[in-house]
Amino acid sequence: MSSSDALSVASTHPLSPPEIVVGAVPEDERVWVPQAPSVWFRPLMLNTLNGSWCNLLRVRRAGVLSRHRHPAPVHGFVIRGEWRYLEHDWVAREGSYVFEPPGETHTLVVDDHIPEMITFFHIGCCMYYVDEQGNNTGFEDVFSKIDMCRAHYAGNGLGSDFVDQFVR
Ligand SMILES: [Fe+2]
Repeated sequence: MSSSDALSVASTHPLSPPEIVVGAVPEDERVWVPQAPSVWFRPLMLNTLNGSWCNLLRVRRAGVLSRHRHPAPVHGFVIRGEWRYLEHDWVAREGSYVFEPPGETHTLVVDDHIPEMITFFHIGCCMYYVDEQGNNTGFEDVFSKIDMCRAHYAGNGLGSDFVDQFVR
C-alpha cells in the first residue's frame, strides 16, 4: 500500500465520536467556570459514557482548597504553579505528572508563595468531598460539571450550548 492509499482510508471509524482539539488554556476568560472563591475549572472533555472528565483546575488563592476521596483513578499534569496534599510529602510542581490511585483521600493545598496554579486533571467517577472526620459533604461528577458549565455559559454570553463541544 502506498502512502497515498493509506491517506485515502478514513482514520476515524464512522461510529466514533468526533475528536476535540482546543487551546487548553483559553484566551477568553469566560471559558473558566467558577467553582469556589478564586477557584475555576475549564472543561476539556466531559465523558458521559464512562463517567469521567478532563479539565484544567485554576487556583488563585493560598490555603486548603478541599478534602476529597477518589473512588477511581485521577491523572494530573501541572501546567503552572505548584500544589501538594497534606497527607503526602511530595509537591506537584510545574511539569509534574501525578497519578492519584483509587481509594485516596487527600487535602489539596496551595502555598502562600504561589500566585496561581493551573493543572490538567483526568478524573474518573467523581470527586467525593469529605470533612476532617471523613464524612461526606458533597460530590461532583461529569453531569454536575456539565450542569455548572451550562449555567455559567448561559449567563456570560457564550450560551449554554457552548459546553456541548466538550461533551461525548
Ligand atoms: Fe485528588
